[in-house]
Amino acid sequence: MPFTAADSDACRADFPALDRLHDGQPLVFLDGPAGSQMPRSVIDAIGDYYRQNNANHHGSFPTSHDSDAAVLEARRTLATFLNANEWHEISLGQNMTTLTYSLARAFGDRLAPGDEIVITALDHEANRGPWLGLRERGITVREVGIRPDGTLDPDAFASQVSERTELVAVTLASNALGTVPDLAQVVRLAHDVDAWVLVDAVHYAPHFPIDVQALDVDFLLCSAYKFYGPHVGVLYARSGLLEQLPTEHLRVQSDDPPYRIETGTLNFAAIVGAAAAVEYLASWGEGEDLRSRIVDAARGIAEYEHALAGRYWQAVREIPGVTGWGPDFDDTPRAPTVSITVDGHTATDVARLLGERGIQVWDGHFYAIRAVEVLGLADRGGLVRTGVLMYNTSSEIDRLLEALEELAESA
Ligand SMILES: Cc1ncc(COP(=O)(O)O)c(C=O)c1O
Repeated sequence: MPFTAADSDACRADFPALDRLHDGQPLVFLDGPAGSQMPRSVIDAIGDYYRQNNANHHGSFPTSHDSDAAVLEARRTLATFLNANEWHEISLGQNMTTLTYSLARAFGDRLAPGDEIVITALDHEANRGPWLGLRERGITVREVGIRPDGTLDPDAFASQVSERTELVAVTLASNALGTVPDLAQVVRLAHDVDAWVLVDAVHYAPHFPIDVQALDVDFLLCSAYKFYGPHVGVLYARSGLLEQLPTEHLRVQSDDPPYRIETGTLNFAAIVGAAAAVEYLASWGEGEDLRSRIVDAARGIAEYEHALAGRYWQAVREIPGVTGWGPDFDDTPRAPTVSITVDGHTATDVARLLGERGIQVWDGHFYAIRAVEVLGLADRGGLVRTGVLMYNTSSEIDRLLEALEELAESA
């Protein structure tokens, strides 16, 4: 089902934060990739959890039973969101970074000096730092570089992956440049040498439908606050794999997946909220079951966001002194995330001036620091990033363009 400009206008009523005014004008939230706003249904689900349950797990009393049931249901919903086969393929944690560190520590215990891991220069540090840390144990970490347009070179993967490779860790979408790498080739190369593939879907999840089975990945991580939920990390581990990792956990904790990587008391309210976010997204799609509604909604929203971000990409590069970074908006998949630099201004200056007008965009490297370094932008303060989400409108993009034009004139 298409997601139209009228749908985007209509959905705004669901997001209380969008009512906030700044100098009498609505605040503009174009910081999508840095976190999305939450719809009322998600906020209510979190509130209801606290109002009705708020109990620790595995107790022999009603609120604990209900809490356990709600968390199990949330795992099922998140499994459907990712098209995982089983709810026990879904582990939950504080955030994506913490889950990745836990995975890396356990993975490192399986490896021997000389084994190799392949990462990319495009990735957020959360999918680099934990793997780079394993060099202390004699493990070689190889990096696939990026081209000037922010794409990964497929030939570079072919030359970095070898019989020694045990894991390829790669992003599904860059949070700095919007690049969506061609994963099929990466998975093929890795699986041909029996290496596992781990993907960071944090930036991909709010913008595209995810199907772990079609992607054929072994691990996938995402973070609910990027797809209209609260702060909670989600890990998909293909059935049978988590058992092979000596994850750190207390002896009183279950050794079975999905629990064996989960430590301490989880944020049950946030987990319930993450599932409510999936239900919210699905409410914009049609279909007989939750999965078909998720996919239908995600496709429609992706098209809407792509068109809006594409219009901004074309227009902003016409402004004198503005350079756009990242791949072009064409028929290949690309996240609706546009990063620019403006001659004569640091990224922070631009973001601050826009912020004074109530236009909220992010500046810097957004922890995708390697990409910013490789593009030679670190000394200039990095990038000014505009992240389009389902509730962003054409008139917001006009406001942004107008402000940038004035800024460029003043340079
Ligand atoms: C692409 C990407 N990967 C990983 C992360 C880290 O996620 P978390 O904050 O849940 O650890 C982020 C957060 O900005 C991100 O954008």
